[in-house]
Amino acid sequence: METMKTIVTRRSVRSYKTEQIPEEALNEILAAGSIAAMGMKAYDRLHMAVIQSEEALGKLNEGIGRLMAKVMPGRGNGNFLMGAPTVVIVSALDPDKCPMKGMHYINSGCVAENIMLAAADKGIGSVVLGIAGDVVKNDSGLKKELGIPEEFTPLFAIALGYRADEAPEKTLEQRITVSRV
Ligand SMILES: Cc1cc2nc3c(=O)[nH]c(=O)nc-3n(C[C@H](O)[C@H](O)[C@H](O)COP(=O)(O)O)c2cc1C
Repeated sequence: METMKTIVTRRSVRSYKTEQIPEEALNEILAAGSIAAMGMKAYDRLHMAVIQSEEALGKLNEGIGRLMAKVMPGRGNGNFLMGAPTVVIVSALDPDKCPMKGMHYINSGCVAENIMLAAADKGIGSVVLGIAGDVVKNDSGLKKELGIPEEFTPLFAIALGYRADEAPEKTLEQRITVSRV
């Protein structure tokens, strides 16, 4: 797919088929995340945990449900992962201690965008789930179960899978205000 078309095609997907994404596609998507632009070449300060087991997905979903009930009571139908068969948790080592403020957060954003664009290129949908980072961060048992090193801080999740609903119309639109001189 042409790059511009892939960029326009990527849109947050909030309803997934149960069908798992192919292993080869997942490996390429993760590699795409791994070669993202990276301030200070701090590749070793980020970590990606892949969740595909029903049990772990269920625990993450329940955790999101508990946090949602506190922060946004009444929101959601209980299926917070929206049926996504694969979830990637991106974590960073001491993200607030970097001498260049915000660097690890910016790096993790670059990783996220590469992951989502690589997925879109393969016809695989994605969405960032910001709340999932807090859930795993505050559940040391689940964090350990997911293989996230103790000293890393989970930041967010990216759900991956095939879209189950109708894709919205996609256009290249200017959403952010621009000033020019
Ligand atoms: C840091 C971040 C956190 C997000 N968290 C959530 C989330 O928790 N739940 C969700 O449904 N979408 C989440 N999104 C997706 C945004 O809502 C979405 O990207 C935005 O509405 C633009 O729509 P588009 O991705 O379809 O272009 C998040 C996106 C980012 C970058």
